[in-house]
Amino acid sequence: MDLLASAPAPTTATPSKPSLPSRTDAVMDRAKKALLQNYKQQPLVLERGEGVYVWDVEGRRYLDLICGIATCGLGHCHPQVVSAAKAQLDKLWHVSNVFYTEPQIALAERLNKASGLPGARSFFCNSGAEANEALIKLARRAQKERGQPDRFEIITFEQSFHGRTLATVTATGQKKYQQGFEPLPAGFVHVPYGDLDAVDKAIGPKTAAILVEPIQGEGGVRPAPAGFLQALRQRCDAHGLFLMIDEVQTGVGRTGKAFGFQHTGVSPDAFSLAKALGNGLPIGAMVCTDALGKALPSGTHGSTFGGNPVAAAAASVTFDLACSAAQLADTAAKGAHLHALGQALKAKRADKVVDVRGQGLLFGVEVKDAAADVVARCRANGLLVNLAGEKTVRFAPAFVTTMDQLTQGLAILEQSL
Ligand SMILES: Cc1ncc(COP(=O)(O)O)c(C=O)c1O
Repeated sequence: MDLLASAPAPTTATPSKPSLPSRTDAVMDRAKKALLQNYKQQPLVLERGEGVYVWDVEGRRYLDLICGIATCGLGHCHPQVVSAAKAQLDKLWHVSNVFYTEPQIALAERLNKASGLPGARSFFCNSGAEANEALIKLARRAQKERGQPDRFEIITFEQSFHGRTLATVTATGQKKYQQGFEPLPAGFVHVPYGDLDAVDKAIGPKTAAILVEPIQGEGGVRPAPAGFLQALRQRCDAHGLFLMIDEVQTGVGRTGKAFGFQHTGVSPDAFSLAKALGNGLPIGAMVCTDALGKALPSGTHGSTFGGNPVAAAAASVTFDLACSAAQLADTAAKGAHLHALGQALKAKRADKVVDVRGQGLLFGVEVKDAAADVVARCRANGLLVNLAGEKTVRFAPAFVTTMDQLTQGLAILEQSL
């Protein structure tokens, strides 16, 4: 069946003209003077979002199939998340972690239960990098507590992405993110993703843990080869290492399970979350087994805003909605639809499409031409997607995106190739 032939014609924004409209120009001009120029920003000023659509300051509507890079999983301004955050805003914003607040505990209970980790415990922070930083500190300290003070190295993978703090950028297996920041912290070893022989060679007396993404998101939407996480679990058990999974991009329902590792039957010792957890409000989490968590007792780690009541209240509602059995099944079905569309596009446009990859609603289309140009043409045609690496156009749509909207998105991609 030619799935693409039935795609409705895109009805969103008109292509941007060579000279941008004045309000956009004016905002961009201010941004160029006021902001650190550390992002490669698209020439688009967004001011409103509802569901899977966003509007720019010129009033143009875009179909948003990237949703804040895998972050607004329930779409923009989801009414139940908005009302949970508003109710909490009216009650209590912040008191610090020297006191207990219930929204944080309620969220931890949800994550712990869903994780299936023995005696699971949660620590809250504000971002993916901070959650991974907690994993790294936990691994080192837990090995010391076990009487293995020389075990501090963490094996991570080439093309991985774990964040921008000094430790997490060093864990990241991509030189381009590290250049200029040397000397980098010691204790990270990178091996090719999926290469068990390389993992075996890298394991030594200094190894503390393995840190891995179930799907490399920023590295080009590359799922781990079948059996890889299971094999890593086996290596960790055999050598007394901790298996730590970075679920920052894959967690909270994106792949059709609450956490990506749940497709594999593997249980990590600890994992990180951020992105979709707060549906756009900043919150990160590190979930670990009770046994491992004992390595971070009182005073050893913390974060002023971690588990902030407003973000936590929004995150509990987000988690309930994104990870209900019905929503996970729906996300998986939509993922299958998106993949079928991608395969059809690849067959039809083999001259332009090299590969389609992903799981659930994390999906990448590797293209022959510069992916940045394709992303720019998609934008001009009313579709927001982004880059994952140099060659891959990434889709990370909201779980509430309809099948028709996904079909429409792929039609716009085809038109933009
Ligand atoms: C797998 C993964 N880990 C960590 C991070 C860093 O998250 P943050 O930007 O919230 O620090 C990202 C961000 O893209 C990610 O995709």
